[in-house]
Amino acid sequence: MRITVIGTGYVGLVTGASLAYLGHQAVCVDVNEEKIKLLKSGVMPLWEPGLESMIRDVELQGRLDYSTDVSASVPVSDAVFLTLGTPSSESGEVDLSALWSVVRSIAPMLHRDTLLIIKSTVPAGTCEQIEAYLHQQFPASASIAVAHNPEFLRQGSAVRDFLAPDRLVFGASRPEAHHRLEEIYAAIQSPVIKCGLREAELIKCASNAFLAMKISYANMMSDLCDALGISVDAVAEGMGLDRRIGSEFLRAGAGYGGSCFPKDLRALIALAAKEHLDMELLKATEAINRQRVQVICRRLEGIFGSLEDKQITIYGLAFKPNTDDTREAPALRISSMLQEAGARIRAYDPVVAGLPDRQVDVDTDMYEAADGSDCVVIVTDWDQFNRLDWGRLRQVMRSPYIFDARNMLDIAVMTENCKRYGLHYMSLGRPSIAPDVPLTID
Ligand code: UDX
Repeated sequence: MRITVIGTGYVGLVTGASLAYLGHQAVCVDVNEEKIKLLKSGVMPLWEPGLESMIRDVELQGRLDYSTDVSASVPVSDAVFLTLGTPSSESGEVDLSALWSVVRSIAPMLHRDTLLIIKSTVPAGTCEQIEAYLHQQFPASASIAVAHNPEFLRQGSAVRDFLAPDRLVFGASRPEAHHRLEEIYAAIQSPVIKCGLREAELIKCASNAFLAMKISYANMMSDLCDALGISVDAVAEGMGLDRRIGSEFLRAGAGYGGSCFPKDLRALIALAAKEHLDMELLKATEAINRQRVQVICRRLEGIFGSLEDKQITIYGLAFKPNTDDTREAPALRISSMLQEAGARIRAYDPVVAGLPDRQVDVDTDMYEAADGSDCVVIVTDWDQFNRLDWGRLRQVMRSPYIFDARNMLDIAVMTENCKRYGLHYMSLGRPSIAPDVPLTID
């Protein structure tokens, strides 16, 4: 099938490349000429495991192209995917301006057999409005069907999530639209949910909000475990073995970040407010997530009394491992709060080399970043922090505190390391570990 994908962010580029990989003829379109020029010259504008090699393969087969001109491909496409960004506005409502601008510009180019597929995350009701707009403005296109096909792509595993999703969701008001989507995704063997447009739109936001709620629930339990002096690891493991609960997204830590969970929660709360519904559970999910910063700062103040003139090193700036994305990353809020408390901050991240307009020195070497530090706080669970040289780290630090704000390090291993190198290890909802030898803070 001939398919145009408009918007080449990480969802659009993964979608275009994967549809080409599934055997379709795909064109990725973007208004950003620089980005299209980079793609045409073989330079990847973003990093996703497996994406570059997939793109090289489908380019060689002539199945994937790039353009800045929608008029060259939309009129001859069997399906047009819209993968435009739908960010939060100040009020928490979704900013749909980019999406509507593209809908208006391509409307006259759509012919009766084209399926317009909205893949962007949108509030329930948006796709019906788009379908109504097309039928009012362009009676000739009255047969145009609009579908909603939400994405469930995690950054760092987006290609895998596209080709082997837990489920495919096809939202449409007409059966022929469902059938067209089945044709497009015929090569993917995953369960398919065929439903209405609004149900499909809500499935996406409700799923993300639930995952975020699970994380805040785990963080709330970790605070209780801290108070009771027990391990949240055992509680999370015991809960997760119940198939109805599931073990994923129950890891306590610094809280969730990224461009999706915070945005989708705010959007859902705003949508419900229009229906005079309060969504207290989602508001509590957000509040718990915001409070993780205070929990971490309080623990540090508990160690040092005042953070004035203390040097704190933050390990990990990206909102999660295997991405360079720092949008709503907990590390940003933690560094700001520690600075407000008078601490000096240095940071290290394997991929993020700097932070725009932030007073944080980002080092390229993790041991240099810890030179003279009173505490290293692990905020992103990058795998390489499992292989730290603890003796070397202790030598460069001024005080021996390690705060694992992602509960990523094994307690038994850290007990050995603390004993051997005179380190103090803390995490969230788990017992702290101190060396046998008395501590002397120089
Ligand atoms: C999420 C959804 O998982 C995905 O389905 C949707 O399409 C887009 O949003 P993503 O934002 O890439 O994907 O990140 P995800 O892997 O879901 O993690 C989100 C945040 O939760 C990260 O900051 C992560 O560190 C945090 N997290 C995750 C926890 O704090 N605890 C956990 O147990 C799991």
